[in-house]
Amino acid sequence: MSTAITRLLSRNKASVGIVVYELTDACNQACKFCYNYWKGGDCPSKMEAPDYRLARRTLRRLLRQATVGRISFSGGEPMMMPHIHDLAMSVRFAGTKFNLLTNGTLLSDQDIEIFDNLGVGAVQIPIFSTDPALHDEITSLKGSWQRAVSAARKVAAKGKGMLVPVLIVSKMNLHCIEEVLEFFHNELGANYALINRFNIGGLGLKNATALNLTHKEIEDMFERANRTAQRLGMTLQSGVCTPLCVVDPQRYPNVLFTNCSTDFARRPLTINFRGDVRFCNHSPKVLGNIHKTPLKKIIESATQDEYFATVPTKCAGCKLWERCRGGCRAASEQLYGTFGEVDPIVAAES
Ligand SMILES: C[S@@+](CC[C@H](N)C(=O)[O-])C[C@H]1O[C@@H](n2cnc3c(N)ncnc32)[C@H](O)[C@@H]1O
Ligand code: SF4
Ligand code: SF4
Repeated sequence: MSTAITRLLSRNKASVGIVVYELTDACNQACKFCYNYWKGGDCPSKMEAPDYRLARRTLRRLLRQATVGRISFSGGEPMMMPHIHDLAMSVRFAGTKFNLLTNGTLLSDQDIEIFDNLGVGAVQIPIFSTDPALHDEITSLKGSWQRAVSAARKVAAKGKGMLVPVLIVSKMNLHCIEEVLEFFHNELGANYALINRFNIGGLGLKNATALNLTHKEIEDMFERANRTAQRLGMTLQSGVCTPLCVVDPQRYPNVLFTNCSTDFARRPLTINFRGDVRFCNHSPKVLGNIHKTPLKKIIESATQDEYFATVPTKCAGCKLWERCRGGCRAASEQLYGTFGEVDPIVAAES
């Protein structure tokens, strides 16, 4: 292909750093906190069986329409997708890095071998407690702790930091943060892990009373996580953005905090197997569909959309606004139906 044609083609391509690709809505667990928006509401939409052909068609279209730095397979539970390795291979052939977010219960030895051979960057597996019964109560699946931990051990044995254990903290497991982090470090050999507060949405809307943390409890969570990480020599990352008036990141040097930008040229995007593009995995709002509109155009219109430009009343005049942006406003979309409100955690009991 001539350089002129290559240049012309790449001019029409979008450039995206990170895409969370939701392979399927289906899942074998029903975690009490799961943010998947299609599980919220009184009449949750029917979760169809994974559609490999559609997922493959959408992935191919995405890779034609965009240069993507990294694609993380998520869902629902991505391991429910048949031939998932072929999808991962397409990602790697495009020169794109690849991560897997999985509950671990369906991950076989062969899967681990293949993902390793394909050069997977990280496999994120959530473990909520060292007590199997509590983990299983949270996931609503008997035996899930055993299977997730067994898969996590095998991924960890591959070395290279391939395993990234994940801890989601809610009222149900706030008491056992130290033990879980020790387990990650001592049993799974992890020096790096994700720790996220429960962020309301999806099934979590129905279980909010059992799960919601107060401001004091969130501070306690980061205080104890920070102290444990320091003692063990671990680095923790908190991926759920939290308003700066609720948590001051400077108090927790062993925890890296992310904040949520509305700059569509730089922020991660979520795309599902149908081709629907969203602001993030927590947000229910569809910005466009790549089978109908090129991704570049979808990003351009989202950039100009007033919907994302509103400053919540609570944040008007706050000197922390540029850094904070009102916390997770996709959670506001799920709870209040609008991006224009500050993160619901601000209104939680302090
Ligand atoms: C929706 S899941 C999809 C992938 C896979 N099924 C899994 O559980 O890892 C992606 C990640 O989001 C986390 N998660 C789900 N709901 C959450 C919530 N309400 N707040 C914080 N993290 C959540 C899960 O624990 C998991 O680490
Ligand atoms: S968090 Fe993952 S495993 Fe749990 S219900 Fe949601 S999609 Fe399924
Ligand atoms: S911008 Fe809003 S949410 Fe963030 S610290 Fe200020 S008032 Fe709180």
